[in-house]
Amino acid sequence: MCGIVGYVGPRQAPSVIMQGLKRLEYRGYDSAGIAVLVENGAIAIRRDVGKLKNLEAMLADSPLRGEIGIGHTRWATHGAPSQRNAHPHVAMNERVVVVHNGIVENYQRLRHELEAEGIVFRSDTDTEVIVQLLERYVESGMTLVQAAQNTFDQLEGSNAIVAMSVVEPDRLVTTRLGNAGGITLGLGEGEMFIASDIPAILEYTRDMVFLENRQMAVVTRDGYEVTTLGGEPVDPVVHAISWDPVSAVKGEYKHFMQKEIFEQPRALIDTLSGRVDFEQATISLPEMNLTPELVRGLRKIAIVACGTSYYGGLVGKYMIESLARIPVEVEYASEFRYYNPIIDEHSAVLSITQSGETADTLAATELARENGALLWSIVNVMGSQAMRAADGYILMKAGPEIGVASTKAFTTSMADLYMLACVLGEMRGTLRAEDIRRCADELNHLPHLAGRVLDHDPEYSQLADQFYRAENFLFLGRGINYPVAMEGALKLKEISYIHAEGYPAGEMKHGPIALIDERMPVVAVVTRDHLYDKMVSQVEQARARGGVVIALATEGDESIRSKADHVIYVPETPPLLAPIVNVMPLQLLSYHIAVRRGADVDQPRNLAKSVTVE
Ligand code: AGP
Repeated sequence: MCGIVGYVGPRQAPSVIMQGLKRLEYRGYDSAGIAVLVENGAIAIRRDVGKLKNLEAMLADSPLRGEIGIGHTRWATHGAPSQRNAHPHVAMNERVVVVHNGIVENYQRLRHELEAEGIVFRSDTDTEVIVQLLERYVESGMTLVQAAQNTFDQLEGSNAIVAMSVVEPDRLVTTRLGNAGGITLGLGEGEMFIASDIPAILEYTRDMVFLENRQMAVVTRDGYEVTTLGGEPVDPVVHAISWDPVSAVKGEYKHFMQKEIFEQPRALIDTLSGRVDFEQATISLPEMNLTPELVRGLRKIAIVACGTSYYGGLVGKYMIESLARIPVEVEYASEFRYYNPIIDEHSAVLSITQSGETADTLAATELARENGALLWSIVNVMGSQAMRAADGYILMKAGPEIGVASTKAFTTSMADLYMLACVLGEMRGTLRAEDIRRCADELNHLPHLAGRVLDHDPEYSQLADQFYRAENFLFLGRGINYPVAMEGALKLKEISYIHAEGYPAGEMKHGPIALIDERMPVVAVVTRDHLYDKMVSQVEQARARGGVVIALATEGDESIRSKADHVIYVPETPPLLAPIVNVMPLQLLSYHIAVRRGADVDQPRNLAKSVTVE
C-alpha cells in the first residue's frame, strides 16, 4: 500500500511533500518520488528506488522549486521496484503526471488499446495507463477535470489517484475508486493538502475531508470542490482531527514500534475514557448506536479481520460469549469474503481494523451489508472507510500507529471488545449492575497493570540476548491465551524474520511436538486461570523432549520456576483481560530480538502498514 502527498499553496511544495512522505514511509518503501510544476511551467520529477533517504539525497544534489506538486512512496504491486517503475509517472508528452495507490485491474486491455494508438509506454506499471489516458484526453481539448472523469470511469479495481497537468497549473485532481487506501483533503488557509493518511499533513491542518468511493475532488490554493465521478456536487463533512502532531514522531524512542509499545498504558486510558464511568460504574459506547431491542434480536456476531486484528477478534469471542452469551464466529476477512456466509438481518458483522482501509476486511463488510447484516467496526483511524461504512463503531483512540507491527491497536481493540461485551451483556440481561461494577473496576486497573509489565523491559532485553540467533520458535497458549500465542508468533516472524508458530497447547501431542528439541525455544503462556494445570503439563512435555521453555507466568507463581528454563512474570489479571497484559512481554521480546538481528523493525521487508490491495 503506497503513500501519497499533494500540495498547492504559497509554501515550497518539495518540502511539504517530503515531510509528508516521511510520515507515510511506513505505508511502503520500495521506491519514492516527487513531481513539481517548476517556475517555467514544466513538470520536473525526482524519483529513486529504495527508501525515502535516497530521494532526499537526490533532491539535495538537484533541488526542485515550485508551489504545486505530488509525491509518492511505493509498495510494489505491478512492476518490480525500480526507478523506471517508481512514481510519479508522466505521460508520453510530459503534460500530465500522476501518483497512484491500488491496482488497475483492467490495465493490460487499456495498455494494448493505447499502444495500438501509437502511445509508447515507459514502465511496467499499471499506473501508467492512467496518465496516458489523462494526457490523451487533455490533448484532445478536455479540461483536466473532464479528462479525469473520462479516465477514472474506465478504471476497474480499487485505486486512489492524484493528477497534475501543465495545462492547468493551479490545480490538482484526485479520486478514490473502491476500497483503495483513502484520499484525505487537508484544508489550509490559502493552501490545500492531499494525503493518503492523516499523519502526513496533521502538522499543517486538523480540518480534513475524506473522499468516499467514486468521488473526486479538484484542489487549488483557494479551496476544493468534491463531486461524484459523474460531476454531481458533494458537500462532504469536514472532520476536526484530535490527534496531536507530536504523536506521529518517534521522540526519544529508537523505533516507532518501541514507542507504541510504551504508549499502551496511555492508549488504554484513552480508549476507556468517556466510556467507562468508574464512579457510577457504568460502561457506555454511544457511537455503537445499540438498543436492548436491537441487541436482543441478534442471533450471532461474526468478527472479520486480518493479521493481528484477527487475533484480537479471537480474544473478543471469549469475552462476548462469556459476558453476553451471544454466539460469536471469528473469520479471516480474506476467507469470509469468498464463501457464502450464513448471515442475515439477525447477524452483526464486526470488523476489527487499525487502519480502517484493509481491502479484505472492507470487502468482507461489503458482503455483510449485501446480506442485510448489521455492520460494526472497531477501528483506529477516524474517517476511514471501515468507520464510515459502519452502523456503529468504536474508535480505538490509540493515536497514530506508525510501526508496521501492530501493538497498541491490538491491546486497545481488546479493551474495546471487553467494553462491547459488557454493554451487550447488560442489554441482554446476562450482566447485572454488580457485574458491570466489577467489570468497570477491572478496566480501571488495566492501564496500571500494563505499565507494570513495561517496567520489566530490561529482563526481556536480556532474554533476547540468549535467543536472537534461534531460527525457529514455538508459542503455546490455551483458551483465551491461545490467540496471545498466535500474536506472539506473528510479532516475532514479521519483524525478525524468524520462523515462529503459535499453537493451541492441547494440539501439541497431535503432531507439532515432533518439532521440539534443544534448538526450538518454546514460549508458553502459563498465567493463572482454569487451564493452568493443563498448561503446566504441556510445559513439562516440551521440556521432557529437550525443548527450552520460556514460561509467561503470574507474579507469585514460584512452582513454575522448576518447570521452565526461563520465567517472565506478569501481574495477576482477570482472565478475560489477561491477553491485554500477557501480549506485552511478547511484543517487547520480539522487538529486542529483531533489533539484535539488525532487522528493519518499523519497515519489515515485503510488508506495508495497511494492505489496501488483495
Ligand atoms: C500486524 O502486526 C500486521 N501489521 C498485520 O497483520 C495487520 O494486523 C493486518 O494487516 C490488519 O491490519 P488492519 O488492522 O489495519 O486491518
